[in-house]
Amino acid sequence: MSDATVDEGPGDGTRAVRAGLPEPVKHEPTLPGPVFAAHFHLPGEVTGPYSYGRDDNPTWTLLENAIGELEAPGLADIETLVFASGMAAISAVLFSQLRAGDAVVLPSDGYQALALVRAQLEAYGVEVRTAPTGGDAQLEVLEGARLLWIESPSNPGLDVCDIRRLAVAAQAQGTLVAVDNTLATPLGQRPLALGADFAVASGTKQLTGHGDVLLGYVAGRDAEAMAAVRRWRKIVGAIPGPMEAWLAHRSIATLQLRVDRQNATALAVAEALRQRPDVSALRYPGLPGDPAHKTASRQMRRYGCVVSFTLPTRARAERFLAALRLVEDATSFGGVRSTAERRGRWGGDAVPEGFVRMSVGAEDPEDLVADVLRALDESAE
Ligand SMILES: Cc1ncc(COP(=O)(O)O)c(C=O)c1O
Repeated sequence: MSDATVDEGPGDGTRAVRAGLPEPVKHEPTLPGPVFAAHFHLPGEVTGPYSYGRDDNPTWTLLENAIGELEAPGLADIETLVFASGMAAISAVLFSQLRAGDAVVLPSDGYQALALVRAQLEAYGVEVRTAPTGGDAQLEVLEGARLLWIESPSNPGLDVCDIRRLAVAAQAQGTLVAVDNTLATPLGQRPLALGADFAVASGTKQLTGHGDVLLGYVAGRDAEAMAAVRRWRKIVGAIPGPMEAWLAHRSIATLQLRVDRQNATALAVAEALRQRPDVSALRYPGLPGDPAHKTASRQMRRYGCVVSFTLPTRARAERFLAALRLVEDATSFGGVRSTAERRGRWGGDAVPEGFVRMSVGAEDPEDLVADVLRALDESAE
């Protein structure tokens, strides 16, 4: 995906290492350290950006600039806001844009906490319609909706929808479009260039990539809508700490290195799994032949680090996970250390008992593939 009308400037690696850096100041660090401040000096009138630490912080500003530069290179007037977590960012968009009596379309196969959000929206009088991600099924329930929520690729099923097609249909009838870009990262997919009004993500995953920070963000093109998101952040107070924001910014410098390494290895893992008769329902959008590949290759620039597949039984999946040596049995995804889990253990996803979601890290590809194949052999009955 590349929008030929937009000058994107330098390549992804160059943009990642420089993203959001302030103009150089002699004797100052390249990336200023975290600003720990609950309040700022504010004599007289309330002017300027920094007054109270729940409203704004210079460390957030640099991070917001960085994320905005990566989410929407070359697009003017994009505003980015950071949050305490991906869920804080998701909730900020949904709860600031929707009113009682509005209808919203959510994916039926998205991140499992969306079901909790759904219940809360319904309690506030919002009509919630759902449809699966694959096949652009959300089109069928779009009529009259105030907002369409897309998660592509979806977690954990890795289905993909045609974001541009859905955005065109939605906007023709005045429906706002938000895309959860967590799995792809801004280097993998640019929802705003594909026509979305909001790109939203959990920065907890591959964006920060070390499994040590919770973070979320919203990037949006509409000043009024973003003002409402900002107001939501102020009244709910789901703000990132300065240390987390700074760590995230530091981590973004290596985003292109991590993403390229992890995603290439994810493809290698998927190719190895494809040869196994004991593995079924293998999904990776970057795998030629995957049901999502055609659409993914039109709109994604990189395919993510998550691979999903199903082993014959729950017991087999548990033995497989226990036999892995280089892959931690843990939730979440996107970190430099590989993780995998039997997703059914949470009870929130419509997946078989033997369904495994694996997040591929930055280990040497041959070591990781060998570990996965050995664990498959050892866990076979
Ligand atoms: C696709 C997706 N969106 C949002 C979230 C929520 O992010 P966080 O855990 O940072 O609140 C997750 C978490 O797993 C996710 O997978």
